[in-house]
Amino acid sequence: PVLVVDFGAQYAQLIARRVREASVYSEIVPHTITAAEVAAKNPIGIVLSGGPSSVYEEGAPALDTGILELGVPTLGICYGFQVMATQLGGEVAHTGQREYGSTAVTARTDDNQLLRGQPTAQTVWMSHGDSVAIAPDGFEVLASTASTPVAAFANDEKRFYGVQWHPEVKHSQYGQDVIVNFLHKAAGIPADWNSGNVIAEQVEKIRAQVGSARVIAGLSGGVDSAVAAAIVHEAVGDQLVCVFVDHGLLRQDERRQVEVDYVAATGIRLVTIDAREQFLTALAGVSDPETKRKIIGREFIRSFEQAERDLIAEADADGEPIRFLVQGTLYPDVVESGGGSGTANIKSHHNVGGLPEDLQFELVEPLRALFKDEVRAIGRELGLPEEIVGRQPFPGPGLGIRIVGEVTEARLELLRHADAIVRAELSAAGLDGEIWQCPVVLLADVRSVGVQGDGRTYGHPIVLRPVSSEDAMTADWTRLPYDVLARISNRITNEVADVNRVVLDVTSKPPGTIEWE
Ligand code: XMP
Repeated sequence: PVLVVDFGAQYAQLIARRVREASVYSEIVPHTITAAEVAAKNPIGIVLSGGPSSVYEEGAPALDTGILELGVPTLGICYGFQVMATQLGGEVAHTGQREYGSTAVTARTDDNQLLRGQPTAQTVWMSHGDSVAIAPDGFEVLASTASTPVAAFANDEKRFYGVQWHPEVKHSQYGQDVIVNFLHKAAGIPADWNSGNVIAEQVEKIRAQVGSARVIAGLSGGVDSAVAAAIVHEAVGDQLVCVFVDHGLLRQDERRQVEVDYVAATGIRLVTIDAREQFLTALAGVSDPETKRKIIGREFIRSFEQAERDLIAEADADGEPIRFLVQGTLYPDVVESGGGSGTANIKSHHNVGGLPEDLQFELVEPLRALFKDEVRAIGRELGLPEEIVGRQPFPGPGLGIRIVGEVTEARLELLRHADAIVRAELSAAGLDGEIWQCPVVLLADVRSVGVQGDGRTYGHPIVLRPVSSEDAMTADWTRLPYDVLARISNRITNEVADVNRVVLDVTSKPPGTIEWE
């Protein structure tokens, strides 16, 4: 792999993605990693990330000096660039000259591998207080800005490179070119990592892990669990059985997409548990959001346990108990909860509906090394239906937490209808790529006065909550075109009974969460 050494900024994940976008597999490692540990991973390249510290600060994150002696091609970015400069005998100075945001650089682009083929004048994204004052011996200075004499350097012989700016962010005009040049031209790494390879590699791994044992997977209707199960099915066929709990809080058409389209595309063996009655009964009379969430979680576990008991009873007959459970854990979850060391805990909400801890399963996690967009690419490669692969994130508790007030069948029906209109109109307007997700919320406890035809109405509002986000930790409300909003509003008020008003949520996260409950 290419190792991305994380110096504690938010940028490491972005760098890892950009490297993968250049068709090279990358992994994030903490800066505390030792040279021996690096060597054991057999890296073909190293990228040192940016970080919030100054190399002078007490306790500033350092790098095992042995790492730069392994002979591995290395690119330092921002703080990583300064770490390289310091360790290799150059000089970093606290000049008092800060550079933040878009900055003009003048670059040498004709005689080095890193910037070759780029314009000499370009705009890059900077964020630093310290600067490299003197490049280490044997290094050529490749770029400078008005206040930074050494904004990039290279030692083509050692294949060591560094840039003060952030090539991984889109604001750096030729940023991806820097990364591509480093990987393919300077380090000579082939562009051969793609979704096809990942599938083949995972299939082999799963077969080795599972052998002839039986495997269970919960399907939530979402992308991750669908793709994870499909890879496992590719590996072990009918040793896999999938369980899909219909809790009645799904969106329009979702059950059919799983039961018919997904099963048709994969040939997976699926057991659907129809628990709609059970959930509605348990939710009757409850409006408090946390209570709703707890009830939904509890009933989900009950349904899943029942299915498991049935399947284990069935398994007893052929003597093969179910030993493995598939989970759609993604790379960002692994990194966030432990630095990708392979020992990370899985956050509870990534368990399908929060499976009980005392279930004694060994986990199969074929997506552990992947980002969401890569999971989608693999889903497409596996021939999964676009409705599932392209789907927005949808919370486990489903529409239950998008009805503010008590959950009833009539209200669910109404919300499903409004939600379907919103999804159809956003897709028709080609906006799916811009929107992370767009919860549609029914304010069931609120009524307002309206006029329709020539009569007074007293109906409920529907809230649109379109958000843009990279990871759902923070989000901004998406500026949807007015004509699209107008069409959605018209259609909902005309077509959905008992709704006479459509409102737009213009709150970022924070302070608002994405979901209303
Ligand atoms: P919030 O509302 O916390 O949502 O800003 C962040 C992201 O998480 C999703 N979400 C959930 N996903 N189970 C899930 O699997 C849950 O209980 C849950 N609650 C919120 C939400 O849709 C958004 O993408």
